[in-house]
Amino acid sequence: MAEPMIQLDYGNVLDGAIGVAHGLSLSEIKRGTTEACDAVVQIEHERKDGQHRYRDLPGDAEMVKVVTTAVRKFKPGIENLVVLGIGGSALGNIALQTALNAPYYQLAEGKARRGPRLFVMDNVDPAQIGNLIELLGPKLGKTLFNVISKSGETAETAAQFLIFRDLVAKKLGKKALTRNIIVTTDPEQGTMREIVESEGYYALPVPPGVGGRFSVLSAVGLFSAAMCGINIAKLAGGAEAMGKRVSSKAAAKNPAALLATILNAYYVRGKRLHVMMPYAYQLKDLADWYRQLWAESLGKEHDADGKPQVVGPTPIKALGATDQHSQVQLYREGPNDKVFIFLEVEKFAKDIKIPRVPGMPETLGYLQDTSLSKLLNAEKQATEYALVASNRPCLTIRFPVINEATIGQFIMLWEAATSITGKLLHLNPYDQPAVQMGKDYTYALMGKTGYDKQAKAYAKYAKARGKRTV
Ligand code: PA5
Repeated sequence: MAEPMIQLDYGNVLDGAIGVAHGLSLSEIKRGTTEACDAVVQIEHERKDGQHRYRDLPGDAEMVKVVTTAVRKFKPGIENLVVLGIGGSALGNIALQTALNAPYYQLAEGKARRGPRLFVMDNVDPAQIGNLIELLGPKLGKTLFNVISKSGETAETAAQFLIFRDLVAKKLGKKALTRNIIVTTDPEQGTMREIVESEGYYALPVPPGVGGRFSVLSAVGLFSAAMCGINIAKLAGGAEAMGKRVSSKAAAKNPAALLATILNAYYVRGKRLHVMMPYAYQLKDLADWYRQLWAESLGKEHDADGKPQVVGPTPIKALGATDQHSQVQLYREGPNDKVFIFLEVEKFAKDIKIPRVPGMPETLGYLQDTSLSKLLNAEKQATEYALVASNRPCLTIRFPVINEATIGQFIMLWEAATSITGKLLHLNPYDQPAVQMGKDYTYALMGKTGYDKQAKAYAKYAKARGKRTV
């Protein structure tokens, strides 16, 4: 039976809903989709030349096999899985885990937990890492570390690797290194690849041509997911089904082309803040994943031909209903410079009845004998209604259910929308040159060989700035 598909509801960006000053007309959308569909045709053509390689991941049955084999080898007896990675080597892992395992999976015992507890260490905060080391203590032998770094050069991941490698070698002995550490990295090059070869670690590949933030459907995201009981074949199946839709040059069948068209039309009109607001705890970390994808791919100071241009929508995450009590005042009455992207779920994994409690004040009567899913979705509908009343454009991505298939669809939808938006904004969505400077100066401040020029520049800047504190 075919899995149900997620849907993009764009009724509340139309001028009929929010007025001509802020809404889009159907003819404007139609014109925009013609351009977006030209971009789709171009992307499909470029795929044949080996570009946009992330699009091939869902159909890569070999990848699923390689990951499943590794899971079979490493899972027995493992109680804790610690992912060491950052950015595109971490956010997808976190998003899949939150979306597809129970909210308090980490606390579940026995069969209620389908695999090891998962800790994704995407920072180098000493208090955080120190606490994990303390708590792993006696369980270190039952802990597997998955070092994920495509480049193998990232300072944060390298530092974590050195710490945990040392811990394992000292506490469990050198022989444990290859038993308790598995590496996901470039199959041919980079420092981590060198270490894999010299120390003999089991390694999973980050496929060449797939950048970090587009790599969640490769071994980068699939290994931790499969270790924790997520059905990665179904996840890939969902992404593949969406992959077919986002290849379509018929706008009415291609939600990525429509999404890119609408967000680009608003970008041109000056609404450059894109707020993703899931009304489901399970989808909250997908908003974080989207934030990186959208920001790092589309914020560029050069166009695709290297000419100067400053562009980039700013992605923002919020969570319904929580942030109604934090952000919605600004969203309704502050500047009308945002597009809202709600994520709504029709059928939750569980529902909870709100009971009728005799003797409670009549003012609580409306809640009794209803359910939490009804309340949460009513809050979404009401918030959207209130935003529409203030002429704010709103999109909804509707999940019939949250499962591997729909999450795979969502991932592919946004990845493809990113590629299409990259074409519409005439930029390269796959590089991140601005991130490099901070990395280089970190190397310089940490004394890495070859970064003397940056160290001198930093010293000059620090001297000129002097001390300005109160
Ligand atoms: O999307 C990206 O390319 C980045 O966010 C990287 O994933 C991040 O910098 C980590 O890089 P690496 O996997 O090489 O350690």
